[in-house]
Amino acid sequence: MPRKSKKSSRPTVIAGNWKMYKTIDEAKTFVESLAPLIGKSQATVYLAVPFTALAPTAQLVKKREAPLLIGAQNMNDASEGAFTGEIAARMLIDAGARFVILGHSERRQLFHESSPFINKKVKRALQEGIQPIVCIGETLHQREEGETETVLKEQLLSSLEGVSAEDLSRLIVAYEPIWAIGTGKVARPKDAESAHAFIRGVVAENWGKERAEQLVIQYGGSVKPENASELLAQSNVDGLLVGGASLSAESFSNIINGSLT
Ligand code: PGA
Repeated sequence: MPRKSKKSSRPTVIAGNWKMYKTIDEAKTFVESLAPLIGKSQATVYLAVPFTALAPTAQLVKKREAPLLIGAQNMNDASEGAFTGEIAARMLIDAGARFVILGHSERRQLFHESSPFINKKVKRALQEGIQPIVCIGETLHQREEGETETVLKEQLLSSLEGVSAEDLSRLIVAYEPIWAIGTGKVARPKDAESAHAFIRGVVAENWGKERAEQLVIQYGGSVKPENASELLAQSNVDGLLVGGASLSAESFSNIINGSLT
């Protein structure tokens, strides 16, 4: 389905988030299958794989000259140190990661990560030279109570506190309403658009209109080939963060190929 033309020059960034799925072999097979399917797409394609699959998939992408960027799903805020089981930004970069998802709601909710903690990670990522995708989003309860905008503003400003206007241009924000993640309940395109427009407005107030206009804001939460192009047709929706539907090369390529004419 064709995507409506945009007034802005923002790129369309479609990211897959595999979460805790796929072994090294499964990941490599996926990349081999996906690469030929997305050669004609104008979207920029990101794939956030498990730590163990970072180096093998990044090497494969390079070898095949596949049109996608490999990234990670989390990292520690310290540069290095005695933090058993943690991983540092420079290790991700060393393994071939080009971006890292920070503040995903599963990290916030299941692993009790706060916005100030995510803020430290964002700053570390920017300092080390890996692009953060910073996730924010409200719960169903917060939406029903009419608190969506308050929550989004608080999470955004707290997660990005102290980030310079120049650094802001190096990151992506993902709006992921928590009630839509893994539930099959996608946000209505007009609700996604209104949240994205709100986020862009907050960025404009705090970092200036020009930076806000350049910021790529992705939508995430139950994105499927059937709903992707309608979401992307909204003028403030610049990309998608795709969980479940990024696990199959067929459905992920259908989302990517439907994203731009
Ligand atoms: P979902 O996950 O597409 O499976 O809802 C999205 C996400 O968690 O990024």
